[in-house]
Amino acid sequence: MKIGVLGGDGYCGWATALYLSARGHSVSIVDNFLRRQWDHELGVQTLTPIQPLSDRLKVWHGLTAKQIELFVGDVTDYEFLSSYLQTFEPEAVVHFAEQRSAPYSMIDRKHAVFTQVNNLVGTLNLLFAIREFNPQCHLVKLGTMGEYGTPNIDIEEGYLTVEHNGRRDVLPYPKQPGSFYHLSKVHDSHNIMFTCRAWGLRATDLNQGVVFGTMTDEVALDEGLINRFDYDEVFGTVLNRFCVQAVTGKPLTVYGKGGQTRGFLDIRDTVRCVEIACLNPALEGEFRVFNQFTEQFSVLELAHLVKTAAEKLGFGVEISHLADPRVEAEEHYYNAKHSKLIELGLEPHLLSDSLLDSLINIAVKYRDRIDLSSMAPQINWRKPRNERRPQPAQTAPLGLSEEPFARPEGLGEWSDPRWVAEDCETAGAQSNTRPRSVPRAFPGSARG
Ligand SMILES: NC(=O)c1ccc[n+]([C@@H]2O[C@H](COP(=O)([O-])OP(=O)(O)OC[C@H]3O[C@@H](n4cnc5c(N)ncnc54)[C@H](O)[C@@H]3O)[C@@H](O)[C@H]2O)c1
Repeated sequence: MKIGVLGGDGYCGWATALYLSARGHSVSIVDNFLRRQWDHELGVQTLTPIQPLSDRLKVWHGLTAKQIELFVGDVTDYEFLSSYLQTFEPEAVVHFAEQRSAPYSMIDRKHAVFTQVNNLVGTLNLLFAIREFNPQCHLVKLGTMGEYGTPNIDIEEGYLTVEHNGRRDVLPYPKQPGSFYHLSKVHDSHNIMFTCRAWGLRATDLNQGVVFGTMTDEVALDEGLINRFDYDEVFGTVLNRFCVQAVTGKPLTVYGKGGQTRGFLDIRDTVRCVEIACLNPALEGEFRVFNQFTEQFSVLELAHLVKTAAEKLGFGVEISHLADPRVEAEEHYYNAKHSKLIELGLEPHLLSDSLLDSLINIAVKYRDRIDLSSMAPQINWRKPRNERRPQPAQTAPLGLSEEPFARPEGLGEWSDPRWVAEDCETAGAQSNTRPRSVPRAFPGSARG
């Protein structure tokens, strides 16, 4: 099958492009490297030393003789995107190419606006380009489980049967997104649903949970193919952060009570789910929604799983609770359905001790690249303007492997819960004189 992977230089997109290529699909990648620029803007880097995309593609070609075509450009640039669709003529387009960090979207007005312009304009352009140039192309769009929020009833896969005043209908499931980023995904979903109805497009919205893991069979073939491992406060995911904290002797930082429960999945399941969606396209005019996750955990449960796994490997681990910088329920009911992808053949890789071991071992392997200062939460959902203060880089303690029982250090350092809890309340007042972090005028970000 001819499959376009938009956002193929990113975490999910890279693993997906390799997986689809390995399975014999004809694959192209579209990306404008914004994700790499955000690292520069924030002063952080992936723990794993990822190579430039062109080098990664050469390594893949050298190992497998398979060619992945590369189209460098911005999906918010309609001319570029429509010429890509006409040149490559994909049967399915997998759209990962969005700003995907909730904290990034909550830094301030500029970051909120940037996130929504980038995400909504990119998706709108794609809908128009498909309609104009390739109306049979199946859109596989990455949404998020965070679109639903945490309602006090079961979460269905996209639609809810409602009885009201004696009448019954099947309606889109109500959404209660928790950040400007999550809102962008809800707005995307509405735009896609509308074009399926109005123009007869075919689309699958993959409401994905939080993805964990770095290795897929393909990425594991060569160090030159290694994927991202983000653990910083803005783009890092909670499990990665816990693994890094565990091997550096820092307490695992749980926001609030830690009862926040979410859906999770292994990156090996992400790539398979995408292939399943492509091979089983939505019908003409159908807006189909799959909840793409395999297990649900609370943040505190994850912390305990990491603590247990790390202790077996000889690390001493403590768990601390920080004031929650987000506006979210810290304890709540959560039961989200996720059977449609299983019915289509997904065989989940569940989070096991061995996977946690491998994640922890990645943190150990690249410990010299760990910047401890990048994990302290500085973005407070309650404030309309957060001024991120670059912290002096704190590298991981050397000789870690010889001293696996390194204890958390004393009070007063960045990770101390009292420090952070206070800071969440006072950051705006304290930081007037410090450098601000503002989004650059990313090329093409406001075009459409
Ligand atoms: N990683 C997760 O846990 C997770 C969970 C749920 C949903 N998702 C969704 O999956 C998708 C991929 O997530 P990810 O973690 O791989 O993100 P990522 O940031 O690693 O990758 C996104 C890629 O898209 C590119 N991109 C962004 N805007 C672009 C534009 N305007 N034009 C061209 N390229 C652009 C970036 O450069 C980057 O390479 C996102 O839409 C995200 O919302 C991810």
